[in-house]
Amino acid sequence: MKLFLDTANVDHIREINEWGVLSGVTTNPSLVSKEGRSMRECLEEIAGIVSGPISAEAVSQDTEGMIREARELASIAENINVKIPMTPQGLAAVSRLSKEGIKTNMTLVFSANQALLAAAAGATFVSPFVGRLDDIGNNGMAVVEEIVDIFDTYGLTTQVIAASLRHPMHVVQAARAGAHIATVPYEVMVRMVQHPLTDIGIRKFLEDYEKIKDL
Ligand code: E4P
Repeated sequence: MKLFLDTANVDHIREINEWGVLSGVTTNPSLVSKEGRSMRECLEEIAGIVSGPISAEAVSQDTEGMIREARELASIAENINVKIPMTPQGLAAVSRLSKEGIKTNMTLVFSANQALLAAAAGATFVSPFVGRLDDIGNNGMAVVEEIVDIFDTYGLTTQVIAASLRHPMHVVQAARAGAHIATVPYEVMVRMVQHPLTDIGIRKFLEDYEKIKDL
């Protein structure tokens, strides 16, 4: 499973990219607005850091508007794909954009049926939102499992991005469910590295090394 970072913060993207674990980035209007910068400025800078796929979200509600925005966003850098919301207008946009060769990420997906439609329309990626389903008392990861199972059965090539992940166990569960990609918030990525036994082990090795370093 590939790891994407779910942020528009370029300092965080740079830091995690240095670890050599980053395969891509997803953004959305809420994440960009936290940075207080324009969408274009953020995307240009992110594209200068990351060579893998970068998702940028269209905000139009009508098909023509989505297509216009998608062409503009995709022209910023060749690794940008366009997030399109799961609506009838969005499906029509994804279908036309896929024929134009513009990569899409169908977003705000909350059911296997929505994912099936996204794949049928030609989406490159589909993003089931796990945390937001958990928030309303549903089992978000069960939806990821269902989608992966159905896509595998029919050999569908749309890649499943487990999104709206809230804690490290979500990442493990997404990997076990067979998601192609997990898009992970910065704070969760940092917590994935940490383990108290690692810290205790390092401390002990350093203490013991102190005893022999001058021998
Ligand atoms: C992913 O593509 C979305 O931008 C993101 O994962 C949404 O996460 P949230 O539900 O924590 O806002």
